[in-house]
Amino acid sequence: MTKAVILGTGSCLPEHTLTNAELERLVDTSDEWITSRTGIRNRRIAGKGEQNYQLATKAARRALAVTGIDPEELGLIVVATISPHMIMPSTACFVQAELGAVNAFAYDINAACAGFTYGLDLASAYIQSRPDMKILLIGAETLSARVNWEDRNTCVLFGDGAGAVVVAGSNDGRGVFGSNLRSDGKLWNLLYMDSPQSLNPELQRDEWQGAHIRMNGGDIFKHAVRLMEDAVTSLLRKHDLTVNDVGLMIPHQANIRILNNLRERLGISEEKVFVNLSHYGNTSAASIPIALDEAHRHGRLVRGDVVLLCTFGGGLTWGSLLMRW
Ligand code: UT7
Repeated sequence: MTKAVILGTGSCLPEHTLTNAELERLVDTSDEWITSRTGIRNRRIAGKGEQNYQLATKAARRALAVTGIDPEELGLIVVATISPHMIMPSTACFVQAELGAVNAFAYDINAACAGFTYGLDLASAYIQSRPDMKILLIGAETLSARVNWEDRNTCVLFGDGAGAVVVAGSNDGRGVFGSNLRSDGKLWNLLYMDSPQSLNPELQRDEWQGAHIRMNGGDIFKHAVRLMEDAVTSLLRKHDLTVNDVGLMIPHQANIRILNNLRERLGISEEKVFVNLSHYGNTSAASIPIALDEAHRHGRLVRGDVVLLCTFGGGLTWGSLLMRW
């Protein structure tokens, strides 16, 4: 049976690094608080020439270069993002134009931090019906444009960046073989980013306080640990696997204490969990593809190994995905 395999990975991080020490000068915080509560030491912040679609395009070119696939061979481009270059057109259309991927249709998906994992599941479903399709899947964010730089509860957490993968069909037993994606819209107000205020006076909301990220960190923390644990254990059980069968777990990078809690509950060893959070902070939909690319380049992904993704974000959205690398 044809499955969706990742043929190549690439990433692109902005040049500028914002340190915890620099944040101490912006808001009432400390390197000690940020490091001990989150595990984050640095994050990249986009500058001129580093718009969301530009980071996405560079990541995509790097992923394509690994595969030798020409942009004209792409049938679909999907960008997972909550900080698109514009609301319309999609960031994926900007990437398509930059690459000259004239045969691809292109659109964005919004599933917050779960966007890349949802996107990989989507790519896998396309491959089932069109096994010859070549798909470019990107997670790209410029969250620095969407945080309130006066709110210490959120501005210390997020960063910018993009990661990309090229997906195609394969019949050699490798590829995506399971996923467990979930959402709970009732809990939307634990983590959200409002749109600009309505231009229709009838639709304006009195409670509108700006088009930036807001979060109830404590509640999100508790839900993240419990729901990712559920998503992973039920998916492994469905496929008659245990954590011992997993070669590498690549989780969404939000908080080292969430990851340590999750690791302990799952009983998975530290060396099987890829973590790069201290360098980049939480890059939402970009966090897993950036981590995938680093894991790939550092030789942590071994052909034939079971790779487990797990993620959690606003929506709420969360889930897990299994693939044989
Ligand atoms: O990617 C999507 C998913 N997002 C996440 O997974 C994020 C989940 N949540 C978290 O990572 C954590 O809840 C945070 C890192 C956001 C906060 O950590 P916490 O241990 O839950 O802290 P808290 O919110 O309970 O705040 C503890 C104290 C508060 O002060 P009081 O009320 O105890 O006096 C906060 O005002 O820490 C204060 N605080 C800060 N202090 C220094 C909050 N942010 C900061 C800060 N610097 N940046």
